[in-house]
Amino acid sequence: MNFRFILAHAAFVLGLSVSNSLAQVPYGTQLGDDKYKPTIGQEGKDVIWVPTNDAMADSMLKMANVGPDDLVYDLGAGDGKIAIAAAKTYGARSVGIEYNKDMADLAARNAQRAGVDDKVKIIHGDIFVEDFSKATVLTLYLLPDLNLKLRPTILKMTPGTRVVANSFHMGDWEPDQVIGSGYPQGYFWVVPADVAGKWTIRGINGGKDDTLDLVQRYQKVGGTLTVGGKPQAILGATLRGKQLKFSFIDQSGATRAMDLTVNRNSLTGNVSENMPIYDVFGIRR
Ligand SMILES: C[S@@+](CC[C@H](N)C(=O)[O-])C[C@H]1O[C@@H](n2cnc3c(N)ncnc32)[C@H](O)[C@@H]1O
Repeated sequence: MNFRFILAHAAFVLGLSVSNSLAQVPYGTQLGDDKYKPTIGQEGKDVIWVPTNDAMADSMLKMANVGPDDLVYDLGAGDGKIAIAAAKTYGARSVGIEYNKDMADLAARNAQRAGVDDKVKIIHGDIFVEDFSKATVLTLYLLPDLNLKLRPTILKMTPGTRVVANSFHMGDWEPDQVIGSGYPQGYFWVVPADVAGKWTIRGINGGKDDTLDLVQRYQKVGGTLTVGGKPQAILGATLRGKQLKFSFIDQSGATRAMDLTVNRNSLTGNVSENMPIYDVFGIRR
């Protein structure tokens, strides 16, 4: 598993760049305190410990727009640096889950030393056992196959939950945004609502019912809107959490913008653009 991480980081290991703050803390370096000194690259249950560098940690939290209303979970918390930064710099509450007991204890002491132990909780546990469903933001620095193993759980989280990973992808769930252009990169996703299926929608065509048929792959959405019996492809659909937006051409030939919020089996919103704004609501059939 050490080998897997090192392979995955081949570019990093081969070319520690001067701009990467880990260049000052290479593999084998000891950090920690007088009670416990972990070594960068040491074995962990599913992945070794390598701390996210300071610049990337900050970029990840910024990309996720972390603030005082957030509950950030760092899965595989190491020495707690991301959980601590989320609390100290961005005022969030945070939880770090770390399997290695010595490491978890160190992270808790680090949170205390940073003066944020009232906001940071460190759980000594396994990320594949502990419940992180209440997180509003998830941070990960694991491995591609671990991200994939977590993906089904992540996709069941509340739509709108932000997920940000150092270095590694989520398979064919493409990120909404990428952090950085060189190495390392970070990846950002927003958990999409489930919008697929056939919806009865009212508000476009007076009091009459129309049909919206949606197909979905993660945050990518397409489909057909049938207004007054005439089907047409929806245009430029975007889905970010619960917010679904697209355009369509109305019966007069004008482009209209649809802005909807999806809550499980109902949706509400409005249709506008060069027209009065009308309320729209719908239910999934
Ligand atoms: C690459 S380090 C990242 C540390 C921290 N998140 C950061 O970005 O600085 C991964 C951490 O996950 C821990 N870990 C490995 N498998 C784990 C598991 N199943 N549950 C919880 N922690 C785990 C390791 O001990 C290590 O501290």
